[in-house]
Amino acid sequence: MKRCLTLILSLLLAFSLTACSQAESSGNSDPVSSTPTASEADKTEVPENFVLIEGGSFQMGSPEDEAWRSEDEAQHTVTVSDFYISQYELTQSEYQAVMNENPSNFQGDTLPVESVSWLDAIAYCNARSEQESLTPAYTVDGQSVSWDRSANGYRLPTEAEWEYACRAGTTTPFYIENSPSAENTNFYGHYPYMIEDNYFSQGNLEVQPGEYRQTTVAVGSFDPSPNGLYDMYGNVAEWVWDYYGAYPAEEQTDPTGPESGALRVYRGGGWNDFAKNLRSAYRATMEQEKGSFNLGIRLVRNAAAGTGSVSGIGAQQAGGSGGKVLITYFSWGGNTRGVAEEIQAQTGADLFEITLVNPYSSDYNTVLEEAQRDQNAQARPELQNHVENMEQYDTILLGYPNWWASIPMPIASFLEEYDFSGKTIIPFCSHGGGEFGQCLTAITKLVPDARIGEALSIHYSGGSSMPGDVSDWLSANGIAGN
Ligand SMILES: Cc1cc2nc3c(=O)[nH]c(=O)nc-3n(C[C@H](O)[C@H](O)[C@H](O)COP(=O)(O)O)c2cc1C
Repeated sequence: MKRCLTLILSLLLAFSLTACSQAESSGNSDPVSSTPTASEADKTEVPENFVLIEGGSFQMGSPEDEAWRSEDEAQHTVTVSDFYISQYELTQSEYQAVMNENPSNFQGDTLPVESVSWLDAIAYCNARSEQESLTPAYTVDGQSVSWDRSANGYRLPTEAEWEYACRAGTTTPFYIENSPSAENTNFYGHYPYMIEDNYFSQGNLEVQPGEYRQTTVAVGSFDPSPNGLYDMYGNVAEWVWDYYGAYPAEEQTDPTGPESGALRVYRGGGWNDFAKNLRSAYRATMEQEKGSFNLGIRLVRNAAAGTGSVSGIGAQQAGGSGGKVLITYFSWGGNTRGVAEEIQAQTGADLFEITLVNPYSSDYNTVLEEAQRDQNAQARPELQNHVENMEQYDTILLGYPNWWASIPMPIASFLEEYDFSGKTIIPFCSHGGGEFGQCLTAITKLVPDARIGEALSIHYSGGSSMPGDVSDWLSANGIAGN
């Protein structure tokens, strides 16, 4: 009798616990209406470590008065449907388990995978879907990838989904109160938001400079966002589905970006980015077949089946390296000039220095101010000299110093002056520790019709290894030496 009573009591307890957890997981705390509605019943089961982002409308992009915004962040109203998004960036162990390889620059099971191209990310999504008997979301045909929106497999977020999930209802530059600090985000901590404008008045900053870790860290090392997502800013930036292009002005529902292109968008900034390039609205781009140690993956799954299919026509840029080569550079302190001259010595190619009608100050503190002012205003300083007959060149080796994590604005003036479509531009960048920063994004945005070759980064003057590094880089780009 006693045994029988215990059995009945445990059954009752088990039943009430199940009912309770059902109410919780459906987000419905009213026990009376515990039967799921039709649309809830349609929903896929929540994948492990994913959260449901309930759809809604928001202003995508940044307001015109947001500091350090770019023109390509024009605000427009976007509505997105429900979706599931991973709380974490994809780890190296998750990537290795499916792909049997790990291309990451910083190795460690719990670190985010990086140095994966957009096409690698797509291949991973499909391979994992197949492993878990889900319908793969993508069909890959060389450079072209189409997306079956009804598929229940793993996929990348659209650019709109990423920003909606990141913002969590906020309209400020960051969902974090004030802005990211090195204590709560893995980024280039020496350069918090607005440091550029306050380099000589750091007491004015809401967030003080902090640690620059110079590496990725284990995913989920810091507090999550209001939506329960870790590392939306920093650690690694994250590929999204969309090709890069101007936003449409009109209202959009579940937008998927342009139908063709060569550049894909990535979001959120990484361990090597300044805070201004972590902003919720900031858009970075790169060719879909390239990767970076600053860029990884965050997965999404449909919460309800979408309809139709989105085709993506990969417009691989015409032309390879070769033909007639021009070496062109802008240099303030001489380091880039030294690299350009070494390239000239090794190739015998024509050499052209970009100079200004109104040169920057030769005083270091003054040029820091002038450079950030010009970058903030997206100025186009007037160039003093011009390349005659640019048509004769097929490949342009383009040198510059990393200035405030991007290109000096004279490089923007230069890139806008000529038609580079069908040509190959191969950047070489002298830096003080920040490698390329967002230079390559800035260049690809300015010359979307050019092919961008393998870029070279040189620490200051490059020291004794510079000639060898230049020689390796030229070979990697198929440019013959003397
Ligand atoms: C205005 C200015 C901004 C700079 N910003 C950065 C930066 O964001 N990241 C970095 O690694 N180095 C930065 N540097 C350092 C230069 O990139 C580095 O000293 C480079 O070697 C200079 O090349 P140059 O001698 O050809 O001008 C900056 C230098 C200046 C003058």
